[in-house]
Amino acid sequence: MVVKRSLASVLGVLLVFTLFHNPTTVVGQRLVSPFSLFTFGDSNLDAGNKQTLTTADVAQGFWPYGKSRDNPNGKFSDGFIVTDFVAKFMKIPIEIPPALKPNVNVSRGASFAVADATLLGAPVESLTLNQQIRKFNQMKDANWKDDFIKQSLFMIYIGANDYLNFTKNNPEADASAQQAFVTSVTNKLKSDITLLYNSGATKFLIQTLAPLGCLPIVRQDYRTGEEKCYEPLNNLAKLHNEKIGPMLNEMATTNSDFQFTVFDFYNVILRRIQSKSIGLSYRFLKTNVSCCGVGTHDAYGCGLSNVHSRLCEYQRSYLFFDGRHNTEKAQEMFAHLLFGADPNVIQPMNIRELVMYPVGEPMREVWLPTSSATLQASDSSSSSSSGYEFY
Ligand SMILES: *[C@@H]1O[C@H](CO)[C@@H](O)[C@H](O)[C@H]1NC(C)=O
Ligand SMILES: *[C@@H]1O[C@H](CO)[C@@H](O)[C@H](O)[C@H]1NC(C)=O
Ligand SMILES: *[C@@H]1O[C@H](CO)[C@@H](O)[C@H](O)[C@H]1NC(C)=O
Repeated sequence: MVVKRSLASVLGVLLVFTLFHNPTTVVGQRLVSPFSLFTFGDSNLDAGNKQTLTTADVAQGFWPYGKSRDNPNGKFSDGFIVTDFVAKFMKIPIEIPPALKPNVNVSRGASFAVADATLLGAPVESLTLNQQIRKFNQMKDANWKDDFIKQSLFMIYIGANDYLNFTKNNPEADASAQQAFVTSVTNKLKSDITLLYNSGATKFLIQTLAPLGCLPIVRQDYRTGEEKCYEPLNNLAKLHNEKIGPMLNEMATTNSDFQFTVFDFYNVILRRIQSKSIGLSYRFLKTNVSCCGVGTHDAYGCGLSNVHSRLCEYQRSYLFFDGRHNTEKAQEMFAHLLFGADPNVIQPMNIRELVMYPVGEPMREVWLPTSSATLQASDSSSSSSSGYEFY
């Protein structure tokens, strides 16, 4: 009896000891999210890399950039950018830092995106996507374990500068020249994503290109007049975007642990620009001009010391802060869509679903073409029945 009781209490103590022997780990497992975020691409996702890379003063390092946060830090917005919000939603406790800046904390990911980045060519004082991925590989061994990389989200927005440059240099390009260029750009994108996958990444978020012809700086440079967008650039963006989903479907078929999703940024922007004519409100009063800059669409020179830029009074009523980048309010909206929207906006999964999806498991859904993916900038009245209107 005595023996039994003491055995029971010994077992009890052992049990209690096993349950609570390492309370910090238990708490740690419960409270700390395991997710991390790596970003690649151009100025839209640049967390301050261009500012680090060049010795010249950059406009985005000066007021009124960052004004809503009283901190011009090399990001293209009046405050935070989309990835700051996405990181917050992923419960990452620190800001995703620019990878090129010395002595930053890359324990939860980093931004490799640099303003002026392209897929093709050799951008001045910037890095191509390929060079960004090589930089990631150089930093990898010293900073991140393989399991960590597999669990991390890799977000990419790239290509706009390739098409802006192409259109500037080839204003008369015909359909077959355009198609040939799109093919070379998207082939390069595919080989770069493959390189990143071969570097250990398995969770990819690719954004389609915005309707480039509707950017205030493009409307201004190409003098499209009042309501019009510059259609040759929108067409290039559409041709590019059409290739993304099928390309990623194929990669997921070939590689069973390749997971991806596509954010329909093109239509997210276009719906906001067309909101009046399709009878919706996204709470932006101005969508065709910038908040900060000079010119017919206030689209040039924001932050440049030699330009006397106009600055709008209320940033939150504008979709665009400068000629091609969105206001903090818009970027926060995009982050909510990325994180939680339905497949009409981001498919086959949103970020919340993608980061939760077990590492190594084949995707159970594919990307599907949608008929409304090609909302026409010039023919918006008929699109309100697309069942697509709420984001
Ligand atoms: C980096 O950030 C993490 C939080 O993700 C923190 O735990 C760690 O102490 C930081 N490292 C340094 C060197 O500050
Ligand atoms: C821009 O276009 C020109 C002419 O086609 C080309 O030589 C250059 O490499 C391009 N620049 C970039 C950064 O792609
Ligand atoms: C912007 O759109 C408004 C209508 O929403 C129009 O009145 C205005 O002229 C446009 N501005 C420019 C510069 O295109």
